Amino acid sequence: MSSAVARACANVALAKYWGKRDEALNLPCTGSISITLSGLNTTASVSFRRGLERDRSVLNGAPAAAKEGYRIERFLDLVRERAQESRPAEVELRTDFPVAAGLASSASTFAALALAASHAAGLSLSERELSILARRGSGSAARSIFAGYAEWFPGESADGSDSYAKQLAPPGHWPLGVVIAITDSGPKTVGSREGMSRVVKDSPFFSAWVASHAADLDAIRRGILERDIRLTGQTAERNCLAMHAVSLAARPPLLYWNPVTVAVMQRVAQLREDGLEAYFTIDAGPQVKVICPTAERTELASALAAVPGVRVLVSEPGPAAELIER
Ligand code: DP6
Repeated sequence: MSSAVARACANVALAKYWGKRDEALNLPCTGSISITLSGLNTTASVSFRRGLERDRSVLNGAPAAAKEGYRIERFLDLVRERAQESRPAEVELRTDFPVAAGLASSASTFAALALAASHAAGLSLSERELSILARRGSGSAARSIFAGYAEWFPGESADGSDSYAKQLAPPGHWPLGVVIAITDSGPKTVGSREGMSRVVKDSPFFSAWVASHAADLDAIRRGILERDIRLTGQTAERNCLAMHAVSLAARPPLLYWNPVTVAVMQRVAQLREDGLEAYFTIDAGPQVKVICPTAERTELASALAAVPGVRVLVSEPGPAAELIER
């Protein structure tokens, strides 16, 4: 039996990945920059072994649904092909943050799975190779391999060999506070995969989104490197609103927010007027992630928890994906 266990964190993008140039390979139309989130972990355990008829996946204690199981199997196929491994695998995934609450777990899942499965199959991949492998499972997982702040380069080649993420800065470079406001615990209606596909094919604003994204990416990179909360935060908010504008204009339209989402956005604007340097970003769901200087995160967390309908999680730039057992 060849097995390994690995853990990886979720991440939140400040400059978003929203639109693919290749859907099969998860190749993005733009670059993106994210913060790896401490305390939001997925642990993946993978064992390749004889005697199994096919891959078996268990997610938080329950057998994977057909769609999730299929996605994991296709991912394992990539590892098997590379390692010339023919045995099926037993996979166990545990996510310690509320998956049902619509916080994306695909990034932490496929980053942890890439590390565990490649080790279990006897491969020893470089960080770049690991990031490329994780990307095949879920685009945003390419960034969850790294601690702190990560940038994913879109690349130009058709085979995706130049589309990988890299660390932009370690967690200690800038220990920002990240407060996550959970506004809804139901599953999201339209997932990122379907949402992106729709905006690329059918949003009249898609080319404008791609064109304006480049400047946001540069500003956010500079903001992080210079620890400039205003530049980073203002640009991240603008980038998030542009992503949602492209989505609203899609046919049929994609509206990811609920009334509490909007109340949190307005509360953040008000807190800022009162002198708290907080800025929001929102992914393909109704939850709001708010960044602020570390010293202000307790105050921010209590202010957001006081918005009716909100539950908060507090995080900060977190560690890289790591192997826990072999
Ligand atoms: C809005 O990485 O979940 O969170 O590549 O299809 O698995 P797939 O999509 P996924 O999309 C994440 C989209 C986003 C923005 C981001 O994380 O950059």
